[in-house]
Amino acid sequence: MIFGSKFFRKNLHRYSIIPQGSVILESFFRLGKIKIRRTAALAPMAGVTDRAFRTLCKEQGASLLTGEMASSTALVLGDQKTAQYLQVDDPLRPMGVQLFGHDPQIVERSIQKVLPFAPDFIDLNMGCPAPKVTGPGAGSALMKDPKKAEEMVRLAVKASPIPVTVKMRLGWEEKSGALDFAKRMADAGAAMLCVHGRTRQEMYSGRADWESIAKIKAAVSVPVVGNGDITSAKEALARYKETGVDLVAVGRGARSNPFLFSRIEEYFTTGKLSAPANGSDRADLLLRLYHLMCEDRPAWLAMRELRKFAAWFLSGMVGAPKMRAKAHTLETEDDLSFFLDTLRSMQLSAEFLKEEC
Ligand SMILES: Cc1cc2nc3c(=O)[nH]c(=O)nc-3n(C[C@H](O)[C@H](O)[C@H](O)COP(=O)(O)O)c2cc1C
Repeated sequence: MIFGSKFFRKNLHRYSIIPQGSVILESFFRLGKIKIRRTAALAPMAGVTDRAFRTLCKEQGASLLTGEMASSTALVLGDQKTAQYLQVDDPLRPMGVQLFGHDPQIVERSIQKVLPFAPDFIDLNMGCPAPKVTGPGAGSALMKDPKKAEEMVRLAVKASPIPVTVKMRLGWEEKSGALDFAKRMADAGAAMLCVHGRTRQEMYSGRADWESIAKIKAAVSVPVVGNGDITSAKEALARYKETGVDLVAVGRGARSNPFLFSRIEEYFTTGKLSAPANGSDRADLLLRLYHLMCEDRPAWLAMRELRKFAAWFLSGMVGAPKMRAKAHTLETEDDLSFFLDTLRSMQLSAEFLKEEC
């Protein structure tokens, strides 16, 4: 922990104490011309953060959104399905789109395919650990080849009139190169870095290393978004205080609890937390998500895709394991109705309440 460290004291001006004794953060930071609230971003998650889920999180207060990663190669080849990942709806701004690729020239060419969608920024994925992405040398494999990553950023920045940002991990196997890598990306023109505090080798295991994120924040002059393991408003505030990051991003924590964004906003602005969302609130949110999903696909497919969210939304509820099995069999709107009625009657677990309050 570096709370109380020289770094934290140096950044003390970024925090102010309001009379009730609660701590609030400076309200905004800037990415180019975009003003971003210092609450929490929704971290991009392929297969999760589609338009429907992004809308849900925006309604809960997510301050920055990024689309699911899109293949630069597929875009250059004119693949229509990939283009769906680039959709930016005005109410969801500020929002960026994310590209992955192994070839700097192809990434450069794909920028022209992205610009008509008018995102607020273009994020380059240098963190994905999936073998099908890293195999050809994209995603976190770029952290093994800083020279290539640097060239990718440089070419993308040259081709793009809007900010180009980088999402990275702490390294491939070793963390030792993370600081140098971050500096090189910033020097090459990256306008912001989002750092997930794990190496590729760690995948999603263990705890994210926020001390390393703090070191990167202290070493670069561009905004830094810290990411990894945030599941409560109190944790979010602690990570800001410990590291001085400009923003935190929440991934899996939001997947099972999109209310996290409104909790963070409430906590940061009032210093207090009201009772957490109960089973009934969660049921309402799940139904809202289903309706949002139905706007983009047939109802039967929306129901199939809703199943995983139904299962995630049970996290922290008493009786969740039994209900999870039901979530995975949702087929009809009658099934959903029954599921929602049961969810409304379920209680939050003591463990969840302890973490949330
Ligand atoms: C299912 C899943 C899909 C993901 N897809 C992406 C992606 O498309 N682009 C990206 O940069 N990161 C992706 N990530 C990584 C997350 O953005 C985030 O960095 C990671 O989950 C750590 O944050 P968390 O602990 O808050 O979940 C994904 C993570 C998960 C679990």
